[in-house]
Amino acid sequence: MNLNEKIEKLKREKNAIILAHNYQVDEVQRIADFVGDSLELARKASQVDASIIVFAGVDFMAETAAILNPDKKVLIPSRIASCEMARYLTPEIIEEYRKKYPQAAVVLYVNSTAECKALADITCTSANAVKIVNSLDEDTILFGPDSNLARYVAKHTDKKVIPMPPSGHCYVHTNIDVENIPRNGVLLVHPECPEEVQSIADAIVSTGGMVKFVAKSDAKRFIVATERDMVARLRRDFPDREFVPAWNNAICLGMKQITLEKIYRSLRDEVYQVKVPEKIALKARRAIERMLEVS
Ligand code: 13P
Ligand code: SF4
Repeated sequence: MNLNEKIEKLKREKNAIILAHNYQVDEVQRIADFVGDSLELARKASQVDASIIVFAGVDFMAETAAILNPDKKVLIPSRIASCEMARYLTPEIIEEYRKKYPQAAVVLYVNSTAECKALADITCTSANAVKIVNSLDEDTILFGPDSNLARYVAKHTDKKVIPMPPSGHCYVHTNIDVENIPRNGVLLVHPECPEEVQSIADAIVSTGGMVKFVAKSDAKRFIVATERDMVARLRRDFPDREFVPAWNNAICLGMKQITLEKIYRSLRDEVYQVKVPEKIALKARRAIERMLEVS
């Protein structure tokens, strides 16, 4: 039996499913039962009918699945599959901002820890950030941890959006250099990219939004300004189009910790289980479920 067959067998025997983010390498995306962006994965995690969820993504995504599924076993195949951006925000920073802006609402990008989400009024993803902010009564929004997404939201709302902290970012997206982006195709840009990259975009969209945009477009060639393996998803879904990464070194090291071998081990040994203390999960769940209701 090859590795893929062994994984499929374990999935059947254990009533397990694999959820994978669009940034996973092609072979991991292919073995998954569902591939999507953060919002699609959070939604899927809240609907699945399986005993075990193996999450091929980074820590905050698996945590979100665990928070939404307290009765299921959520596994992440690597202990070091983490999102660097989430480190920019701590509960202390949120409390400090809350004191300074007592009338403001706290909107947290899902790329944040469960402890931080527990202090949020609502969470958002790059697919629904503007909608979430506009759904709130408050006129001032404390938005973290991504300052580029915060600036994007600020442009699309009348509310005052304060980045919390001022310079939270993703190293994968901020290192995409506007000067080196090929300009011979429709340019799809993730809102985590810096302002100057956003300013030349044909569309600023989440990874799931990129799939939807291409489905509606007649164009044949696309330049993709986000993590490099997003093109694996696009090439599979649209084999008749051409997709070029805006920068070949846009690689999320956290995402790349997940391999087929580790998924097999994860299913076989049921490691590593993602557990969020119920006291934190209870409050974080409220913020995530509120987001799912609004979007
Ligand atoms: P999406 O929700 O657009 O998939 O983005 C997640 C992410 O981590 C981007 O770096
Ligand atoms: Fe986090 Fe950036 Fe990786 Fe997305 S690409 S998971 S924001 S480190």
